[in-house]
Amino acid sequence: MYFALQPASAVLSDINSDLIDCYQAVQKSPGEIDALLSDHQSRHSKSYYYETRAIKPADPIERAAWFIYLNRTCWNGLYRVNRRNEFNVPIGTKSAVVLHSDNFQSISRMLRGAKILNQDFEMALDSTKDGDFVFVDPPYTVKHNLNGFVKYNDKIFQWEDQLRLRDAVVRAATRGAMVLVTNANHQSVREIYKGVGRQMVVDRASVLSGSAAHRVRTEELTICTWLKQTNEDEEEPPNRYLAN
Ligand SMILES: C[S@@+](CC[C@H](N)C(=O)[O-])C[C@H]1O[C@@H](n2cnc3c(N)ncnc32)[C@H](O)[C@@H]1O
Repeated sequence: MYFALQPASAVLSDINSDLIDCYQAVQKSPGEIDALLSDHQSRHSKSYYYETRAIKPADPIERAAWFIYLNRTCWNGLYRVNRRNEFNVPIGTKSAVVLHSDNFQSISRMLRGAKILNQDFEMALDSTKDGDFVFVDPPYTVKHNLNGFVKYNDKIFQWEDQLRLRDAVVRAATRGAMVLVTNANHQSVREIYKGVGRQMVVDRASVLSGSAAHRVRTEELTICTWLKQTNEDEEEPPNRYLAN
């Protein structure tokens, strides 16, 4: 969303310190990241992947390149850590570490106006003001999770967090911020955002799955706090839109 809109100034925040450190390193040192990725590319192999995965560099620039290297070569670009916060995704099928589309210098320029912060969403949302546009893209936890991946996710972003997020979104909207939330199109999520704004269902291609058969179209819910729900009193599902 940030790169699509390219606002003159913005705050980007996430609780994942490796992700935020990576953005900060790309913002400040794009040339070094480029060089380190070329080095990873020339050494990439199955054994190099697992050796590299096991040792998180202390240096922030090396850690950023390490993070991008693992993200590009692991299974389906998945991000998952164990209870000790160690990245534990196995190697994937892709071996391109340096991509033709890479342009870290340009990304760095685009990030010039961004304040990049490692913080909880409540802190980020509570600092928004009247007239701010806020894009919120939380993990998709629903009230009764049965699937293993979501169940794992549930431990790090619990249902209580969804409620805490909804409350922070309402506070921001009440102050006059325009908040766009994406979430799972699930009854429990639709329920907690009732009356908060307009709910719309967006249909898109699902990219994260091991087998092509499971990479089907999936639905997401969006909530725009500055718009009025058109069918608030009806039992009808929200309006449907096609994203891509
Ligand atoms: C669906 S992903 C969003 C990905 C991001 N919008 C993007 O396009 O790359 C959900 C994000 O929420 C973050 N997150 C989880 N719990 C959080 C919390 N309590 N506060 C802030 N961010 C959190 C995760 O680290 C993860 O990056």
